[in-house]
Amino acid sequence: MLGALTIIAAAPQFAAAQTAATEKATREPDVIYVPTPQAVVEKMLEMAEVKKGDVVYDLGCGDGRIVVTAAKKYGVKAIGFDIDPQRVKEALANVRSNKVEHLVTIKQEDIFTLDLREASVVTLYLLPDLNVRLMPQLAKLKKGSRIVSHDFDMRGAKPVQVHHMNSDNRGGNDDEYHGGSHTIYKWVVPWEPEKPAKAD
Ligand SMILES: C[S@@+](CC[C@H](N)C(=O)[O-])C[C@H]1O[C@@H](n2cnc3c(N)ncnc32)[C@H](O)[C@@H]1O
Repeated sequence: MLGALTIIAAAPQFAAAQTAATEKATREPDVIYVPTPQAVVEKMLEMAEVKKGDVVYDLGCGDGRIVVTAAKKYGVKAIGFDIDPQRVKEALANVRSNKVEHLVTIKQEDIFTLDLREASVVTLYLLPDLNVRLMPQLAKLKKGSRIVSHDFDMRGAKPVQVHHMNSDNRGGNDDEYHGGSHTIYKWVVPWEPEKPAKAD
């Protein structure tokens, strides 16, 4: 499924903004930064059934809002990874201003190099093809781990839950590019393979 992120990724003003923000990055991010609205963050964590003892990873954490919310609301350990040093800086500031340094770690890493096995919850807001590229890493998560993805599915893995919602902060900073409509996908490891759609 394609979402707002796919469309805006092609917009020239985004290309310019992204280049400026990633001057010091080891390589260009695979997808531009668009934040998940807070209401959607809350729903993603609720769908993931986050509970004490969980370890939440956000792959491509942006300003760190998902990991900060996980720590503040559920008191769990959370790690956010981003390849863009500007995002890492913002996420670290977010962690500090919310006083969750004891629970949240932010790392500048390429998500495709990570061993995810310590995580029991993984959150994604990437692109469909990037979700598919992550599948070999995600398949190694412990049995019962939950994966939730904002707006994008994971071809070949059947979700156990798909939730559609509107966020009503349209016009606010967060929702400038979303158009207010969101889908959240959830999988539980090991996921059920999804049969490819039959050709006509
Ligand atoms: C659409 S934003 C999502 C931000 C955050 N997860 C949220 O939902 O608010 C995607 C993020 O992934 C980061 N990113 C893109 N490619 C990456 C890679 N290979 N490794 C780590 N981070 C990456 C971008 O810098 C950006 O911050």
